[in-house]
Amino acid sequence: MYLKNLKLINFRNYNQLELEFHPKVNVFVGDNAQGKTNIVEAIYLTSMAKSFRTSKDRELIKFDKEQAYVSVSAKKRYTDVEVALKLTANQKKQMKVNKVSITKNSEILNNIYVVIFSPEDLKLIKEGPSERRKFMDNEISQMKPSYYHNLSQYQKVLLQRNHLLKKIYRDEKYKDTLDIWNEKLIELGSKIMMERSKFITRISPLSRLIHRKITENKENLEVKYASNVPFDDDIEVLKSTFRKKLEESLSVEIKRGTTTVGPHKDDIGVFVNKIDIRSFGSQGQQRTSALSLKLAEIELVKAETSEYPILLLDDVMSELDINRQKFLIKSLRDVQLFITTTEIHCLDELNVESEYIFKVHEATVTNKKY
Ligand SMILES: Nc1ncnc2c1ncn2[C@@H]1O[C@H](COP(=O)(O)OP(=O)(O)O)[C@@H](O)[C@H]1O
Ligand SMILES: [Mg+2]
Repeated sequence: MYLKNLKLINFRNYNQLELEFHPKVNVFVGDNAQGKTNIVEAIYLTSMAKSFRTSKDRELIKFDKEQAYVSVSAKKRYTDVEVALKLTANQKKQMKVNKVSITKNSEILNNIYVVIFSPEDLKLIKEGPSERRKFMDNEISQMKPSYYHNLSQYQKVLLQRNHLLKKIYRDEKYKDTLDIWNEKLIELGSKIMMERSKFITRISPLSRLIHRKITENKENLEVKYASNVPFDDDIEVLKSTFRKKLEESLSVEIKRGTTTVGPHKDDIGVFVNKIDIRSFGSQGQQRTSALSLKLAEIELVKAETSEYPILLLDDVMSELDINRQKFLIKSLRDVQLFITTTEIHCLDELNVESEYIFKVHEATVTNKKY
């Protein structure tokens, strides 16, 4: 799929912006703090109904304004789709898909497919487990909106349960109501674990293949689902293991006032030639593996949805050495790219049509066409 255009009103530092895109490569060049990432962020918002930089919609609205508006239209294999969002300070955002209002964030998810790659993502392997959980969650949500729904329910249940644990610590009588919350946690948590396991099973061979190519057969990448509750393909077995683990840790949980068991403690194990590179990998290995995973994600979205996602490369080209840059560009022929960079020269390999090199300066975007 590809985006045909983008419209912004009062989004971040933009007053008003309308852009037409090339189906393949679009480049945004400019100094720091001019508004390049803001454009990428707006595109991401139309895909995921949230930003990758903040959880507060308020921050996306231009300072001193009350409302912001973002819309894109995209060409998909069989249909076209238009997604529009209106953000209002201190109110729920309004969203429309093909001019029809939708109410749940999850309903927006399988319209525009994006994969984003930023310097932060290069740290995916080096960072703590929460980054890797986020990676799973975002990717699965796009392909399966019901996952997103379960996940947000799970997070609510988790909060409630933690709250209850604190109450039980003060007064045992509240123990009676714990079972209800346990069952909700187990029900939702097990569904989440099943999906995560499926995701890792599918992305694992794809990323291994890509990693082999990048490293010229020198490295064998393995990613494994490291679930906090010992995993089982049979959801009933998984549920009963989960239940048992909760029982075992109850006294600790009451003392600490927090739930210590469940998918909110999951991780992904990442191994190169059998070595756990989360702790023992070189920086180069960690970064290359992150790149392999991201590229695998593109193939997975394609396999699951029959659409190639669009790829947002935010400030990432200059972070890669020339070989990895070349590999990246070569392997992305079928994907619409949005690249932000401070230096255009690192894109020599790309043969970008000059009309689609957008110069970004103080929230003004210019290109040759205009
Ligand atoms: N809500 C907002 N209203 C107005 N300006 C904003 C808002 N949020 C961020 N900015 C401005 O946007 C600029 C950063 O834009 P960004 O796209 O991140 O820059 P870059 O070109 O480096 O990617 C900064 O100048 C910042 O002050
Ligand atoms: Mg930026």
